[in-house]
Amino acid sequence: MTKAPVRVTVTGAAGQIGYSLLFRIASGEMLGKDQPVILQLLEITPSLPALKGVVMELEDCAFPLLAGVVQTDDPNIAFKDTNYALLVGARPRSKGMERKDLLEANGAIFTVQGRALNDVAARDVKVLVVGNPANTNALIAMNSAPDLPRQNFTAMLRLDHNRALSQLATRTGKAVTEIEKMIVWGNHSPTMYPDIRFCSVAGQNAVGLVNDEAWYRDTYIPTVGKRGAAIIEARGLSSAASAANAAIDHMRDWALGTNGKWVTMGVCSDGSYGIPEGIIYGMPVTCAGGKWELVKGLEIDAFSREKMDATLQELTEERDGVKHLLGK
Ligand code: NAD
Ligand code: LMR
Repeated sequence: MTKAPVRVTVTGAAGQIGYSLLFRIASGEMLGKDQPVILQLLEITPSLPALKGVVMELEDCAFPLLAGVVQTDDPNIAFKDTNYALLVGARPRSKGMERKDLLEANGAIFTVQGRALNDVAARDVKVLVVGNPANTNALIAMNSAPDLPRQNFTAMLRLDHNRALSQLATRTGKAVTEIEKMIVWGNHSPTMYPDIRFCSVAGQNAVGLVNDEAWYRDTYIPTVGKRGAAIIEARGLSSAASAANAAIDHMRDWALGTNGKWVTMGVCSDGSYGIPEGIIYGMPVTCAGGKWELVKGLEIDAFSREKMDATLQELTEERDGVKHLLGK
């Protein structure tokens, strides 16, 4: 029997990431090859003609699972009854900027969109914030939607998680599929902390296998943390296809489950691991039955505490910088 269509909102749909994302969602890569979708696409008014062109291309794919497309510049239309909301639309940084430099430019977008989600989205909507600075924008959206459960709001650290897997696979000469229990703690920024202490690679403990603390601390951690900037430097544009891929991974795992596998999501802290309640922080989670659950009880050593506190400090500063947008 055919499933009923679900509604998927993508903001900034005519942008770079949108162009890599929409076709994969419509082909069933995000929610499964048996799940029809209605795409509800939000853009700013001047970009509606470009969005029209993207929608013409979607039509030309004749995707069997694409049950409808809405194009709009009105958040209340884009988020109406939506089940999945991918908040991509925001300005990307250019060379020399840090992601937090975007706070002023992008923060306001997420109050408007959080309110619209609060007013018109499905009550179990799954929200993924991709637009930078992703953690703090997710915080703004979550605080602007007081009627929705906080666990509905997440920020994208999956690109960092995937980068961490790929760098470790290269170093150890193993496949990414052989790595388990990767974690990237904290902010989607160079302060993030890719933690391999619990990782196994092809059944062996990653720390033992790497056996080079200096490489881990001085090369691996900064390479993962600064990968976004390295791509901007090389491409002249911020990452797009890999970001769209990470968004698909994040939503697919949340919706369809991880079978016990750990993945990193930016989620609202419940106070675990010394991260104050209410901060959106990269954490290890498993997903089942459409819900994410924090991996609890991990030991935090002195080095990890220092790294986790440094990225927390940055998030607290970002939060303080947008206090006026948090409604408190
Ligand atoms: P882009 O400039 O190509 O596209 C952004 C689109 O958003 C544009 O079409 C723009 O018109 C639209 N937009 C702007 N304001 C909007 C609003 N209020 N409502 C709806 N649409 C709006 O940028 P991109 O390369 O697609 O990147 C989008 C965002 O994603 C940037 O902030 C970028 O930094 C971020 N990003 C995050 C990650 C991550 O890992 N979290 C990775 C890559 C990029
Ligand atoms: C990335 O990590 O590639 C994105 O967040 C883009 C950026 O500004 O680094």
